[in-house]
This record gives sequence, C-alpha cells and structure tokens, in this order.
Amino acid sequence: MKDTYILGIESTCDETSSALLKNGREVVSNVIYTQIDIHKKYAGVVPELASRAHAAKIASVIKAALGDIVPDYIAFANGPGLPGGLLVGRVAAETLGNLFEKPVIGVNHLEGHLLACEFTGGPELAPLEFPLISLIVSGGHSELWLVKNYGEYKILGKTRDDAAGEAFDKVAKLLGLGYPGGPEVSKQALKGDRNAVKFPRPMIGGGCEFSFSGIKTAVSYYLRDHKDISVPDICASFEQAVAETLVKKAIDAAKRYKVKNIAVGGGVAANGLLREILTKEAEKQGIKARFVMKGLSSDNAAMIALCAAKKLEYGKDTGNIKINPNMVVRSWPKK
Ligand code: KG4
Ligand code: ZN
Repeated sequence: MKDTYILGIESTCDETSSALLKNGREVVSNVIYTQIDIHKKYAGVVPELASRAHAAKIASVIKAALGDIVPDYIAFANGPGLPGGLLVGRVAAETLGNLFEKPVIGVNHLEGHLLACEFTGGPELAPLEFPLISLIVSGGHSELWLVKNYGEYKILGKTRDDAAGEAFDKVAKLLGLGYPGGPEVSKQALKGDRNAVKFPRPMIGGGCEFSFSGIKTAVSYYLRDHKDISVPDICASFEQAVAETLVKKAIDAAKRYKVKNIAVGGGVAANGLLREILTKEAEKQGIKARFVMKGLSSDNAAMIALCAAKKLEYGKDTGNIKINPNMVVRSWPKK
C-alpha cells in the first residue's frame, strides 16, 4: 500500500516547527526552531517579535522537514495562539495546499499536546486508553478535560487567570532566573527545601478550575517581606505547591468521573516533580498516569500532524481552516 504523509506546521507561540508523519504514526522529521533567544531578554514572549521570526523561519523549517516528499495532507495549528503566528502558519499551509493540490487541515494546538502523549520515540505509537482525564499544562493554558475517545471532549475546567507555566515563568522573573522559567525553577528546586515556605494551594478544593496568579503574588510578597531569602527554598516550595495542586485536581477529576487513566501534555508536563507525585498518587488510587515524552512536551509540529491523522481516522474534517486565537476544544463532528 502507498505510504501516506502528513505535513504538520506549528507556529502558535514561540516555536516555528514543521514535521512529517508517515502512515499516521511514524515521525519522519520534526524540525523545531525555537525563538527562546529572541524572547529571553524580555522574560516572556513578545508577540510582534514572534510573528516576525515565524515569517522569517517558516520556509526553511518546512523545507527541512519535507525533504523531497510530496505530502498527502497539510495540517497546521489554527488556534489557540498569538494571531500573528497563526496567520503565518495559515498562509504557509494554504500556499503548500495550493502548490501540491492537497487538502489543508486545521488542528487545535491543545489537542496536539494531548495526542503527543502517544509518541514513543520509535516507529509505533502507544495509543491512549479511554476514557481518560487530560491535564494540559503549558505557558498559555491549564485545562482539565474528560476525553471519551479521539475527538470526544468535555471541558471540565480551566485556569481563571495565569496558566501553570506562566506562573513558573513569572516566578523565575521575580527571582532573576532565566527564561523559560520552568526548567530554571526546577533546577534551583532540587537544592531547596520543599517545606521551607508554605505557599497557597490555590482553589485546591474547588473542582476543576485553576488559579495560579495568587501563588505568584504570594511569592512576590514573600520576597518583599523577607531579607535573607534562599532562592532554592523558594523554588522548591513554589514547585511543590503547583505540583500538589495539579495532582490533586487531576486525581479528583478522575475519581469524580470514574476513569482510570490520566494523560498529561504541554510544556509543564516535563516537570519532574509533577511526574513523580502524580505517578505515585495515581497509583495509590488504581489510576494510570502517563505523560508526553520529554522531548515532545513543548510545542512541536509532530503533534499537529498526529492530531490531523486522528481527525482523518476518527472524525470528520469540516475543512474549517480559519484561525482562532481563542479557540476552545470541541468534539469532532462524526463521520
Ligand atoms: O507547551 P509549551 O511549550 O508552550 C505553550 O503552548 O505555552 O509550554 C511552555 C511552558 C513555559 O511556561 C515553561 O516555563 C514551561 O512550559 N515548562 C516547564 C518545564 N519545562 C517547560 N514548567 C515546569 N517545569 C518544567 N520542567
Ligand atoms: Zn503549547
């Protein structure tokens, strides 16, 4: 049988990426140009600079991912994300669609983060086990979903203010650490005492909604009010508070909806403490927790191509490729 190739394009935030997925499962290439060096002096993503960098890099990134293959489908993330980056992705995808006379598929970036949990690093996927609770934690989003099958979602809750990754980034900035903040805070935390400061566990009993701006404010008040501070202790205590909050909410949701699987995706899924506590606590409840493999937790186009492959297999692609910076997750129309 003829091989099928899906070209993925990702440009929602600060990574310009393109990937080629063979037969819906094998990552042939996954080229990622990260803009971290451009944004790090501002300790956050500057949208205008991000758009310009996407526009400058997208052609070479796609060329490197594609090689001499003519793809059967072109998939791109059409939301949620920064408008400028989304536009660059759409123009690239439509141009290639016209050039190769192939269909263009719009994919929700956050669904990509969930599906990335199937990648194993080898030619085969490890299929998700449904029903599951999906915890998506990134720099822009913190969400819990009940997922009954591919493309069958119920959103249980989101953050009311900052995302978990954003809290890491902001705390890193307060402490004068580098960007992105998550890995920097984690590195410091390894040398600190996780019980040194009792930061709040925001909305811990409050269902599936999150709020991470309070904990960042608590860190800033702590810094204001204390002279002799230990950066490792603050990082360790902060990380403990965030991880405990995420774990409690994910497990509560699994218990409430009586599901035995939790899947964690997004940049914060790389967090070692979150992985450790969630795995241990879930096990105690007879729940299996799985995480996206480390190299694919941050934004990448392989997850976008995989999401398109699942959409072709399990749902009906509506052909809607409008970009939507505030896109929410919706179930796919049935075939
Ligand atoms: O998914 P992602 O690459 O981009 C968005 O879609 O936002 O996530 C980036 C976020 C950043 O906020 C970064 O600080 C956080 O993920 N992050 C981490 C870790 N690695 C990345 N947060 C905590 N621990 C980590 N090890
Ligand atoms: Zn992301």
